[in-house]
Amino acid sequence: MITQTMYQTILIELREQVLCITINREDKLNALNIQTLTDIKNAILSAYDDASIRGIIITGAGKKAFAAGADIAEFANFTVEEGTKLSAEGHATLRAIENCPKPVIAAINGFALGGGNELALSCHIRVCSENAKFGQPEVNLGIIPGYAGTQRLAQLIGKGRALELLMTADLIDAQTALNFGLVNHVVPQDQLIAKCEEIFAKIKNKAPLAISSVIRCVNAYYEKRADGNNLEINEFGNFFGSEDFIEGTKAFLEKRKADFKGK
Ligand code: COA
Repeated sequence: MITQTMYQTILIELREQVLCITINREDKLNALNIQTLTDIKNAILSAYDDASIRGIIITGAGKKAFAAGADIAEFANFTVEEGTKLSAEGHATLRAIENCPKPVIAAINGFALGGGNELALSCHIRVCSENAKFGQPEVNLGIIPGYAGTQRLAQLIGKGRALELLMTADLIDAQTALNFGLVNHVVPQDQLIAKCEEIFAKIKNKAPLAISSVIRCVNAYYEKRADGNNLEINEFGNFFGSEDFIEGTKAFLEKRKADFKGK
């Protein structure tokens, strides 16, 4: 049985067989520190065999952010080894979501940046509010996405669009995300959870074994990307030994523009 006391950084609520996981770090725009990744992973894994749960919603606390990325303050001083480990933990959490036998919907209530966008990408369906903004701004920090963003973004919106977003760090709005196929629906913010529940109301009428099988079979189509995932984990880790990464994260925390040297 899943209970709130098991988690430090997320809120959980079970309503009509749908588990709602809310990332609860509103003052840090729900940035994903390691504890948050672990809490999300454990909550998702607990749902795998829990017959009282038929679906999962992941959202962020407040009205401004789903998740504004990995926690830059936490990783700013990481070594190459710690960076590699962080990426591997992010991959493990997001794989637990992607392979969850129960459907997982991301209810994107604001910024979905960096690791936040990658978290949304790992969910089976994405619904966002009209104020949502999406992007992979890691290159601003002298780093690359570390939670499979280089793999899943291209799968979902195509290589050309993914490369442009990954290299420019541009943010896109909800309507553009809809046009790109990054989200399935855009709704007013106060209707976000209701829209997810409406989708679940349909899915809950279907045969649970068939739903799990659909998820497994669709995921199987993409499994050949394993090498890309390992490459990303190693390359992400290596950036923690670069001068540009130190400059990029320092500049963010000091609220100034980074001065990159290509080292
Ligand atoms: N990691 C750690 N802290 C973060 C964060 C992140 N990814 N994103 C935001 N925060 C923190 C800010 O440092 C700030 O904390 P403070 O109040 O203690 O100074 C707080 O959340 C509010 O953010 P702020 O930047 O003041 O809000 P804003 O409205 O001016 O800007 C963003 C919003 C999303 C544009 C901006 O926060 C941002 O660019 N965040 C980083 C996005 C990013 O690069 N993500 C990829 C990380 S790999």
